[in-house]
Amino acid sequence: MSKRPKWQLSQQHVTPEAVFNQRRRIVKALGLSAIGASVPLGVQAGLADWFGKPKVEPALLKPLEFTGSNRFGIADPLTPEDKVTSHNNFYEFGTAKTDPKENAQQMVTSPWQLRIEGEVANPKTWTVDEILSGFTLEERIYRLRCVEAWSMVIPWLGIPLARLLEQAEPNSKAKYVAFETLYDPEQMPGQRSRFVGGGINYPYVEGLRLDEAMHDLTLLSVGLYGKTLPPQNGAPIRLVVPWKYGFKSIKSIVRIRLVEKMPPTTWNLLADHEYGFYANVNPQVDHPRWSQASERRIGSGGLLSAKRIPTEMFNGYGDFVADLYDGMDLRQWY
Ligand code: MTE
Repeated sequence: MSKRPKWQLSQQHVTPEAVFNQRRRIVKALGLSAIGASVPLGVQAGLADWFGKPKVEPALLKPLEFTGSNRFGIADPLTPEDKVTSHNNFYEFGTAKTDPKENAQQMVTSPWQLRIEGEVANPKTWTVDEILSGFTLEERIYRLRCVEAWSMVIPWLGIPLARLLEQAEPNSKAKYVAFETLYDPEQMPGQRSRFVGGGINYPYVEGLRLDEAMHDLTLLSVGLYGKTLPPQNGAPIRLVVPWKYGFKSIKSIVRIRLVEKMPPTTWNLLADHEYGFYANVNPQVDHPRWSQASERRIGSGGLLSAKRIPTEMFNGYGDFVADLYDGMDLRQWY
């Protein structure tokens, strides 16, 4: 079993949530930790049935690793699951934080296909089921820092994007990776009305440089808190790029295209002086309308207020990603 990389926030160091404790007990009781990812999906499904949690997507349960040193963990309790799934940005379902949970529950997320195409030797289409059964799922506890100066700590389940890109075999012209959310105005009220959808020209699109997309931290997430993604969090498959502002972490992806030129991105199209292509978390470069020096950690503090904490360069992941930007002026490339 591989050692947990240093950027992984350890569950030993975060506030343990009931779901994790329960799962840890299950894993321990059945001696699964030594088997790791090799437990067949069918067996995992059976285990979940046995424990009577019908909404838990059994294929996503993964044994935990507790080895390795941890650079950050101590001060980062997990954001409670009910906050992660009720305070969302998903403008396809409305612009208020509570809209996505309210309006996205009927979204059809299965069957679902994800296609990788463009400057690749081997264009490929996977169903999400094929992705779940064909790749090793990892659990990663990451900070998510929204450009609006709030943040969370979320236990994601996913696959490094690099694993899928490798199978598609980018060719020498591939310099950037463009992502696209489902376009389905019938299901997504924000795509039917500019008023509901915040004036965005849909589909929501995002992009990364190829080396950013291939970075081990860049995750295609299929779940959180040990279950499949709820619709409001971008079911059935979304991107998570923890050192960048949350708007880069595009939800409900259907298409990934390898391209030669920097692709257009939704928030940059909407307000290019406020939202750049890179969007690396940077406490030294303020948004034109507010400071980025600190953030409200959702779910922390008292009943009504969230604790304000200093924002870290690259959201605390600088040791792992700063060299991607050597020689670049991060004020110019915001
Ligand atoms: N993806 C799509 N398709 N539509 C969106 O409106 N919002 C982004 C990002 N991905 C958004 C999206 C923003 S601004 C943030 S902060 C994160 O999703 C929020 O993710 P969460 O709701 O899971 O916390």
